[in-house]
Order: sequence, then C-alpha cells, then structure tokens
Amino acid sequence: MIGEKVQGEELNRWLEGIAAFNATPGEGITRGVYTPEFQGARRYVKNVMIAMGLEVSEDCLGNIFGVYPGTDPDVAPVWTGSHIDTVPGGGKYDGLAGVFAGLEGVAAMIRAGVRPKRPISVNVYAGEEMSRFGVCCIGSRALSGRLSAADLKDHADPDGMRLYDKLKELGYNPDDFDQEFPLKTKVHGSLELHIEQNDKLEKAGVPVGVVTGICAPTNLRCRVIGVQSHAGGTSMTDRRDAYMAAAEMSLALERLAQTSASAYITATVGEMRLTPGAANVIPGRAEFSVDVRSVDGDDKTELVELWRDEVRAIAGRRDVDVDLTPLNDDAPLTCDPHFGDVIRDQADALNIPHMDLISGPYHDSLMLGDLMPAAMVFIPCKDGISHDRKEAIDLDDLVKGTAVLAESLYQIANE
Ligand code: GLV
Ligand code: MN
Ligand code: MN
Repeated sequence: MIGEKVQGEELNRWLEGIAAFNATPGEGITRGVYTPEFQGARRYVKNVMIAMGLEVSEDCLGNIFGVYPGTDPDVAPVWTGSHIDTVPGGGKYDGLAGVFAGLEGVAAMIRAGVRPKRPISVNVYAGEEMSRFGVCCIGSRALSGRLSAADLKDHADPDGMRLYDKLKELGYNPDDFDQEFPLKTKVHGSLELHIEQNDKLEKAGVPVGVVTGICAPTNLRCRVIGVQSHAGGTSMTDRRDAYMAAAEMSLALERLAQTSASAYITATVGEMRLTPGAANVIPGRAEFSVDVRSVDGDDKTELVELWRDEVRAIAGRRDVDVDLTPLNDDAPLTCDPHFGDVIRDQADALNIPHMDLISGPYHDSLMLGDLMPAAMVFIPCKDGISHDRKEAIDLDDLVKGTAVLAESLYQIANE
C-alpha cells in the first residue's frame, strides 16, 4: 500500500530544513509573504520538488506547482498542497505540514512504483496568512477569481508599498495577471492536509479529521479619529480619546460574538495602532483590524451589521469620527461530500481512526472550493495551539494523516 511507504524522517527533515528561513530565530517563525525569508523558503520547496523529479512551474504571483504526471495526458489533474508563509512569531507546521504531506504522498507513490491516471500537482499557494497588504490567500484567491489585477494596485502595506510594486520589485510579472487568473484550466479536485488549530482531535485521541466545512473571514479596518492632547492637562470630561472609543468598539464586537446564536462564530481584534503612541499623550487616532468568521454566511453578515450600528453609536457618544473600510468578505465552504467519503474509506482501510470536523480557521481550500470540489484532512496539534511558536505536532500523527492523504489522492486521481 502507498500509505505504508510514507517516511516520517523525510517529512521531519523537510519541516526542519525550511524552518531555517525565519526572520525571528528563537522567537517562533516569521516568514511573511514576499519577504526574503519567504523567497528563500520558496527556493527550498522548489529544490525538493526538482530532486523528486516533479515538473515545476510558477505563475505571476509566485504560486508553485510541482506535478507528478499521470498515465493519461488528456485528463484534469488533482491538486494538493498548502502554504509556506507564517504569521509573525508563528510555528513550523501551519501550512508547511500540508505542503510536505503532499510531497511525501507523491514520494510514497514513487516508492510504491505506482502512477495514477490523473496528474497530481503539489502546490504552494502564495501568501495564505493575512498579509501586510491587508489581503489573505493571495495566490489561491487569484486562482479562484476573488482577486483582480486592480486589487494589486489597491492593496498597499502600512508604508504605502503597493502589492503590485512589491511583485515587480521581486521580479514577478503582475502585468500577466489577467492572462493567468482566474485559473484557465480544469482541475478535477483538491485535497489539502493541515494541522487542526483546535484541540478536538487531541481531546478525542483521534489522529485524522475529515473537514466538512470551512469558516470564512470577513475583515475590516476601523479608523477612529479623536483629539490628540495632553494626558495630564486634559480633564476626563474633556477628552475625545480615540483609543478608548476603539476599546469600547472592540468590546462590543466581542460581546456580539459571545452572545450570537450561531453554531460557530468568532470575532477578533488582532491589531491596534495608536497615534502618536506615547504614554503621556491621549491618542488622536486609533486604527484596528477586525476579523469575523462563521460557517454560516448570514450569521456573519448579521453580526457585522449589528456591530456597525454599535460603532456609530459609540462614536456619537464619544464625539469621535469613525471610518470602516471593508477589506474582504469571503463566503464559507461546504467541503465536497464525495471526497469526504473517499478520505473516510481510506482511513478505514488503513485502520486509522477519524472524525468529522468544521474548520474555524480559513485555508487556501476555501478559495479553491469556488473552482473545484475541495476537501481537507486535519491532524492534531498539541493543545490546539497554532499561530504561536508553541505550535507542535506528534510526527506519528503527521505520518498517519499523510498516509490517508496519499491513498485518497491516489483514489481520486484514478477517477
Ligand atoms: C489562517 O491562518 C487563518 O487565519 O485562519
Ligand atoms: Mn495560519
Ligand atoms: Mn494555514
């Protein structure tokens, strides 16, 4: 069986090898999209693909495709893979586990001497994490048609560097965008392995999760303009403090998510910038990020609308101006039921316990699901911790998840 040919040592060597591309050694992994570390990690993966004998190509955003050709040149390929960028101070497995599980799955097929009918493409999608350009899933979003050429010029980092200019600087060719995106060719379907980023598998003692639905983020930027003034010289009654208004807006957001009747909904303020940012100055300006997710698109829309009303009321009461900029509003995905059955059957055949799960985090599969049937395989991560340097896995779980992925890919690639 292909699953028995999966090698944990190889997976571990790759995961440790790519971890060297890191802007914050000793403080977790920091590998933002289109940074020097990201470019180095891309070269690392391409070298692994080339050493395996895969056919490697790239597109104008830096998505990488490593193809194991099938026996029939005329049929649509099957995709697998994930991302290699990280959050600041993140872990070694978010995204990386899926890229290397895909490669190891193909390596196991090569060792087993089998080649399916359809090509299998192991992909690295550019920039899955929310980037400094205010957009996430850059590569898979473009493939799915949810990102346009104009967006490249509209999205800029906090220093004003446009995504378009960054791509040019790095030698990509963003002017080819409309020729390449949305994806012009048919794909049979996609399977992505990822760490769970929650503790349900670990608590249940189950090594494999079959994802049935993926929550989608709605992201906004909220800018509050108050009046900058002296921390000691301005009486409490005379303040128009931008931060205190922003804090009250943040707490209102938390309360709405906590009291929502939705099956699963989250709301996060992960970033807050105060201007001028000094201990003895009342902030004149506060700018913060808003991230709301749910498996139910209507619940999410309703929460955001309720929050907008509260924001206006708080701004009025505190006499500050507020400006809400929508950054993206993605729809949740129901994973392909047939692919779910294939994953369950293959796990059963390998005697590997599994359970169904919903993903609170988003993934590149959320975007790919617009274009093709898509499903995901989860493996546990220690204490459910992710987006943190403490992110950890049991290598044995990754080997099991990779075996299930490999067998499922093989089945689907023979359909
Ligand atoms: C992706 O990592 C997410 O934020 O869900
Ligand atoms: Mn992540
Ligand atoms: Mn991820």
